[in-house]
Amino acid sequence: MEETFFILKPDAVERGLVGEILQRAERRGFTISRLEVRKADRAILAAHYEDLADKPFFDGLADFMMSRPLVIGTFSGNDVIKSWRQMLGATNPADSAPGTIRGDFAMAPSGTVMPNIAHGSDSPESAQREIALWFGQA
Ligand code: RTP
Ligand code: MG
Repeated sequence: MEETFFILKPDAVERGLVGEILQRAERRGFTISRLEVRKADRAILAAHYEDLADKPFFDGLADFMMSRPLVIGTFSGNDVIKSWRQMLGATNPADSAPGTIRGDFAMAPSGTVMPNIAHGSDSPESAQREIALWFGQA
């Protein structure tokens, strides 16, 4: 059994899509194993996005992610890390296929900030690191 970390980003929360997105995950068969509403600060975002912290778009990304409380949590299930990434679709909603969460709920970005509804860990190592960062070792 695998566990992945997810964030429902400010655009999803603002637009009232939390229930619909969690419902998609539950219908797929994922178990919601942790769930919390959490306001992020710049320090946790710099750690979370450690490989993006020196990118020119990082400040805009951090401001977006701090613009309202996030819904954070974990899903458990067989191969759930890859499955959740597949459900999310391509990073840039301009490229996300219809049927994916980003392809159904997000538009091509109009500027450098790329609201794209939700995050998912990209590997078992990232999942472990992100769960420890946001929830502690537990
Ligand atoms: P995520 O971490 O949020 O699940 O997204 P991802 O793996 O598909 O993409 P990643 O490369 O990790 O980028 C993290 C988030 O940064 C924003 N981004 N903006 N302006 C840009 O060029 C740009 N590139 C990435 C997106 O919000 C992306 O989800
Ligand atoms: Mg990523």
